[in-house]
Amino acid sequence: MTTVLAIDQGTSGTKAVVVGPDGAVLALAEVPVRPAYLPGGRVEQNPQELLDSVLAAGRQAVAQAGRPIDAVTLANQGETVLAWDPLTGRPLTTALVWQDRRAEDVCAELAGQAARIAELTGLVLDPYFSAPKMAWIRRNVTSEGVVTTSDTWLVHHLTGEFVTDAATASRSLVLDLDAVDWSPELLRLFKLDGERLPRIVACDEIVGTTRAFGGEIPVGGLIVDQQAALLAEGCLRPGEAKCTFGTGAFLLANTGERAVRSTSGLTTSVAWRARGGTPYCVDGQVYTAASAVRWLGDLGFIGGATDLDATAAPDSQGALFVPALAGLAAPWWRPDATASFLGMTLSTRPGHLVRAVLEGVAAQVADLAQVVARDLGAPLTRLRVDGGLTRSATLMQAQADLAQMPVDVYPSPHATALGAAAMARLAVDPALSLEDAVPAWTPSTTYEPRWTGERAAEFLARWRRGVDAAMDRAD
Ligand code: G3P
Repeated sequence: MTTVLAIDQGTSGTKAVVVGPDGAVLALAEVPVRPAYLPGGRVEQNPQELLDSVLAAGRQAVAQAGRPIDAVTLANQGETVLAWDPLTGRPLTTALVWQDRRAEDVCAELAGQAARIAELTGLVLDPYFSAPKMAWIRRNVTSEGVVTTSDTWLVHHLTGEFVTDAATASRSLVLDLDAVDWSPELLRLFKLDGERLPRIVACDEIVGTTRAFGGEIPVGGLIVDQQAALLAEGCLRPGEAKCTFGTGAFLLANTGERAVRSTSGLTTSVAWRARGGTPYCVDGQVYTAASAVRWLGDLGFIGGATDLDATAAPDSQGALFVPALAGLAAPWWRPDATASFLGMTLSTRPGHLVRAVLEGVAAQVADLAQVVARDLGAPLTRLRVDGGLTRSATLMQAQADLAQMPVDVYPSPHATALGAAAMARLAVDPALSLEDAVPAWTPSTTYEPRWTGERAAEFLARWRRGVDAAMDRAD
């Protein structure tokens, strides 16, 4: 009977949830963090702010719960990196966020090796992943200390250990995906050989203990955030897929125990390493979902995400949006592409543009669903969704319309934390099976497609022409 403090350290905030043995949320605390969006596609965070937010949110949640905590777990952003001093724990750089594109040059230099890198890692050579940004730090900022993903730094502060979990490591571009171990060949390519690298741990492992939240509590169940949500939503069998609408939108499909390389431009990662098994997943990414909504707010089109449904016009009057505000990921992989509004006239009002942004995000997810289906060899029949933006009925209806499949909304806004909590229960209780660790759920809402297949196909064809134009402009 395990009560878990599950901390979801995300791009836009840190959420701490105390989860009871049956998966019920007993307490919740959230601390926002705001990345700095700088010219040149740079996106940074203050590492100290990340750590402070983890400690503050965790302590608030524990105080609220008012009961003993058996385990602490951490879900992390995945590809956000920093250099730090392993003796003092002091950060030596800012954190370069996964959306940051400054390592484009590192990737361009290695372009001749892209096929070999993809073969070994299952990933595409793109600044999104950890190693190019780690290499950029080494070349441009400091050669001191260690350079790791943010999870390693946070867990070090909590426990004194120097670890990363297998799923997070698989987002790095220096992991041999089949061996699930650091690849000397890849480390040499990125000139990261000679670096002190964290020990790769299983997700269902206890890695140490912490006194940060009162008493001495085991820490384990570490997992990257998207995979945590995949677990929470019960995508345990090959072909089962979910999309999380957070800062970005991430569509992941379980592919089973073989690390099948995508033939369609998706990436392959470790879903989790637990109970002696290593299932894999393919994933496709929309880099800016809630980021695009926040940008609409910054421009003054909406007061905030809760205004979306009230502000979006019933249709976009022909306006179209390509949400490439931080470049384009799968299947295009164009970090240099930029966002665009198309099809505007003098009668276009802010409400039309808000609708166009939501449809643009939904179109990109629908496009990814088709690409995932090509890799799986069978169409997806339903889409499980979670994340803050699932509160927008306009977005979710557009998603069902454009993907032409029912969209099942996960009933809790805390899928990532609940997935990490399930992993922590596995870490604490060796007798528990993966299936038993994940509570069953029924959707809070199901959105059925209202558009005809023909209308959806026409929209997607027009939207893809918009994507082509965005890439041509970048050439
Ligand atoms: O790959 C980056 C992604 O996992 C970040 O998720 O929730 O911070 O948008 P989120």
